[in-house]
Amino acid sequence: MKLLVTGGAGFIGSNFIHYILKSYPEDKVVNLDALTYAGNLENLKDVENNPNYQFVHGDIMDSLLVEELIRDVDVVVHFAAESHVDRSILDSDSFVRTNVNGTLNLLEIAKNSGNKRFHHISTDEVFGSLNIGDPAFNENTHYDPRSPYSASKASSDHLVRSYFHTHNLPVTISNCSNNYGPFQFPEKLIPFFITSLMEGRKLPVYGTGENIRDWLHVKDHCRAIDKIIREGKIGDTYCIGGGAEKTNLEITHKILELMEFDDTNIEYVPDRKGHDKRYAVDFSKIKSELAWEPSVSFEDGIKETVEWYKNNIQWLTNIKTGEYRNYGDHHLNNKHTKIG
Ligand code: NAD
Ligand code: DAU
Repeated sequence: MKLLVTGGAGFIGSNFIHYILKSYPEDKVVNLDALTYAGNLENLKDVENNPNYQFVHGDIMDSLLVEELIRDVDVVVHFAAESHVDRSILDSDSFVRTNVNGTLNLLEIAKNSGNKRFHHISTDEVFGSLNIGDPAFNENTHYDPRSPYSASKASSDHLVRSYFHTHNLPVTISNCSNNYGPFQFPEKLIPFFITSLMEGRKLPVYGTGENIRDWLHVKDHCRAIDKIIREGKIGDTYCIGGGAEKTNLEITHKILELMEFDDTNIEYVPDRKGHDKRYAVDFSKIKSELAWEPSVSFEDGIKETVEWYKNNIQWLTNIKTGEYRNYGDHHLNNKHTKIG
């Protein structure tokens, strides 16, 4: 199989590329990434010389480039997005550009290139916010996005479904809960808190810290996407979750405990605007239809993740100094096309 992965230099995309190249030594992967602040080619250092891997520096809005790349692939796996809720609250434009217009551009080109198989990576946030005691989100939950980020992702999901119904484009969608693990940009809760302690800073807990997220190790997300691409039913949506609901304070205490710090390192700060109370995902459909369920327990996954950040100080330093943005210039060789 030849895959066009968009956004493969980000957190989940880079883990997915590692997963595919390791699990399917015959598969070929083309990674199209614009290298925004969230794109980091150091995440792919281990595979950069693999002859089955090619990096292309470019934007999903660049139609000519996308047309050229899509021509000889079997499937498009679409991760590229602006992904951070706090940034979407400060400035929403780039979220609409990439998440909505960028997805539409890919769909249009996939349609015009012989109706390519298209898998869209989405989020549980499109379903809105749950109260304690509400049933978890599932494939039939109605959409109720509440941040500019989730509204842009909801819009992209609708566009993907519209291309299935209108043009018979062979699509699937997955809506996943909060991921954690190696290579996550240190702006998201878990890596931000781990790296803040490493750097001697306090942990800014929004509001009371009672908001709940459902945590899934990124490896398990990659396994689920792989199953959907190979065995999923065309036109269907799959909800993916970790079965590990935790309050933000539980996460904070766990990180403090693992890193041997005490509660005086917590600082309560004003709440996020429109802060969704709770997310939880019912993954029974993908469990019964595709025999997928999480394999990494939160206890093991969070320990391994803390260790990973402690053992990858250079990766972190390069982000903090901005050096990671020059990585491609220093390391790209003739196996890695750099266009644009
Ligand atoms: P990320 O922010 O770490 O990575 C996004 C990647 O997309 C970066 O490499 C960036 O350079 C690239 N990109 C951005 N705009 C682009 C453009 N216009 N053209 C080409 N590349 C572009 O994101 P992530 O956390 O890895 O999330 C990946 C996908 O998974 C997103 O679609 C996100 O909505 C979804 N998702 C994330 C989570 C999570 O917990 N992180 C959970 C569920 C779903
Ligand atoms: O649910 C899936 C989504 O999970 C993905 O679609 C998004 O791309 C991803 O960013 C994530 O969104 P969240 O808003 O849930 O993740 P974040 O890590 O930003 O925040 C997790 C929780 O922690 C949330 O309740 C806000 C809180 N928080 C976050 C930060 C960064 C804090 O209390 N303090 C912080 O400094």
